[in-house]
Amino acid sequence: MIYADNLRKEFKKIIKEPGLKGSVKSLFHPKKEIVKAVDGISFEVPKGEILGFIGPNGAGKSTVIKMLTGILMPTSGMCRINGKIPQEDRKNYVREIGVVFGQRTQLWWDLALRETYAVLKEIYQVPDDQYQKRMAFLNEVLELDSFITSPVRTLSLGQRMRADIAASLLHSPKVLFLDEPTIGLDVVVKDNIRNAIMKINKEEGTTVILTTHDLADIELLCERIVMIDKGKKVFDGGLSELKRNFGDVRTLEFELVNAPDFKLLDYHRRFHLTEDELSAERDGSLARVRFDTAKVSVEDVVSYTLSTVHVKDLNIKGVEIEEIIKRLYRREVSL
Ligand SMILES: Nc1ncnc2c1ncn2[C@@H]1O[C@H](COP(=O)(O)OP(=O)(O)OP(=O)(O)O)[C@@H](O)[C@H]1O
Ligand SMILES: [Mg+2]
Repeated sequence: MIYADNLRKEFKKIIKEPGLKGSVKSLFHPKKEIVKAVDGISFEVPKGEILGFIGPNGAGKSTVIKMLTGILMPTSGMCRINGKIPQEDRKNYVREIGVVFGQRTQLWWDLALRETYAVLKEIYQVPDDQYQKRMAFLNEVLELDSFITSPVRTLSLGQRMRADIAASLLHSPKVLFLDEPTIGLDVVVKDNIRNAIMKINKEEGTTVILTTHDLADIELLCERIVMIDKGKKVFDGGLSELKRNFGDVRTLEFELVNAPDFKLLDYHRRFHLTEDELSAERDGSLARVRFDTAKVSVEDVVSYTLSTVHVKDLNIKGVEIEEIIKRLYRREVSL
């Protein structure tokens, strides 16, 4: 459904020397620097998939989305969505896609929401009966009722985001591009939006590209992720694959009967491990030991712990996706 081949986008940035003199100089003799915002990215998304598109701030995610949606022209490379090249056939192409940029609204500021949708209905030429059905459906999943008569400028962030998502779905697009649709929202609205995305994807087979910094969005919605950093792809695969690649890291959490006893535990000496292979910390009476099961077994860590200190309660956790991604972003590990 979505096919991106070696996409690149360079921006020319004008470098200004400091001070007024610098401003004047750069006005007449601008010194330009080229920023490679997207540096050769290729990936594919099959029909009906929800792809998590992630990476640290400034990685180039929004720039990729803008090229895929036809807002920006790639410097080189190409993309094709449902057989169309966005930049070539813009008028027909926009009927097939829905786009939401969470950072800014695409709705008309002064129009009441209901009128906004009526205008969009005309733009996309949605037939009356289909429009009624669609609005009823969107109302139900996104709970628009309480503010549908309000002008967009009076909406709260959460209401505005739901309104934006509904607008992007009005014409039943085949592909939905969501660039940070949950940014700054409370848990209830996030939940609402996640459910809407899931429902649209399940019931209509809509293909979705989702950019987010909230990893719960990814865990709940996406089977596959593409991660980019500094304009380049650094990972492309399933969440379970990411976990596997990362190694089988576990965390043993336990509550000490007597907190100061924690110092009796010396895992590093006992098992000849480095800080990388095992880390232990205490917060009050709660202790946490993270370790790589390739270096030391769960059984050994647990039995050493229980035979050294008195423990009230304990549990073992598998690797969490958040932890992996945090470390990838910090470049502590590479895949
Ligand atoms: N119009 C532009 N002119 C110049 N530089 C730009 C322009 N748009 C983006 N950039 C630069 O391109 C790089 C990638 O930006 P982009 O917005 O795609 O990142 P992002 O991954 O979406 O980040 P975030 O998570 O913060 O939204 C950044 O260094 C940014 O400053
Ligand atoms: Mg962005």
